[in-house]
Amino acid sequence: MAYNLLAGKRGIITGALDENSIAWKVALRAKEEGATFTLTNAPVAMRMGKINELAAHCNTEVIGADATVVEDIENLYTKSMELLGGKIDFVLHSIGMSPNVRKGKDYGDLNYDWLQKTLDISAVSFHKMLQVAEKLDALNEYGSVLGLTYIAAQRTFPDYSDMAQAKALLESIARSYGERYGRLKKVRVNTISQSPTKTTAGMGVGGFDAFFDYADLMSPLGNASAEACADYCITLFSDLTKSVTMQNLFHDGGFSSMGISPAVVERLSK
Ligand SMILES: NC(=O)c1ccc[n+]([C@@H]2O[C@H](COP(=O)([O-])OP(=O)(O)OC[C@H]3O[C@@H](n4cnc5c(N)ncnc54)[C@H](O)[C@@H]3O)[C@@H](O)[C@H]2O)c1
Repeated sequence: MAYNLLAGKRGIITGALDENSIAWKVALRAKEEGATFTLTNAPVAMRMGKINELAAHCNTEVIGADATVVEDIENLYTKSMELLGGKIDFVLHSIGMSPNVRKGKDYGDLNYDWLQKTLDISAVSFHKMLQVAEKLDALNEYGSVLGLTYIAAQRTFPDYSDMAQAKALLESIARSYGERYGRLKKVRVNTISQSPTKTTAGMGVGGFDAFFDYADLMSPLGNASAEACADYCITLFSDLTKSVTMQNLFHDGGFSSMGISPAVVERLSK
């Protein structure tokens, strides 16, 4: 169901690779809610993924940008404002990648050049998107900038490896930049901490199926789906959450508040 929550709003949505991507679902919901927006991804993902299909469906354009490259981000904001006809109201940062995870490096044998890449792609890029937006004065008052994170920032999930450090940094940037941007321009900055979700990035983590099932058994509401995550993103882009900023918001069916669940007790008692 659509509520017209984003009527008249302009946005930028990063990270839609294919129809499983959380960003893909956010784009579909943002369109339903009346927003106009541009899509972006790294040039390599644009060649491999299906983002052009999504752009055609959403009647919009794709602007290639490597989120680690400041000039690309400058171009992204400038072109988006031109195409959409004004300043931006919402930005989704839906970007994550660890070469150490992808190449199966053990946490006790990290490649430190790759660690730098993990942090740059998955966390520092969030700062870059905020800093460029501020310098170009690209966001409207009460604009909303959102990053996606995972509870491995607070608790240890061994296979998540150096992505845990990236997510801790991402969440910290949301707080620090949220303070600054709120004070300067009333812009909101938050992260949503999402349940394990079956996407390319998610399933790239070793043991994904096990921790997907474990989280599902632990959560009273079960794992939150990508579609439900998109709904939550829409509320945070809307005017209904104008005083929410500098928060890490768990969207996980209750997982983050659980110790153990009857379902897990039952499973382990067998
Ligand atoms: N899938 C999960 O279980 C899960 C859970 C919690 C949080 N998240 C987070 O959600 C976000 C979206 O991931 P997803 O699960 O939808 O997977 P996904 O693989 O569909 O999306 C990740 C995106 O990051 C993009 N990307 C990688 N390097 C980039 C770069 N240099 N510049 C620009 N874009 C780049 C990829 O092209 C891809 O589109 C990530 O931050 C991820 O960590 C995912």
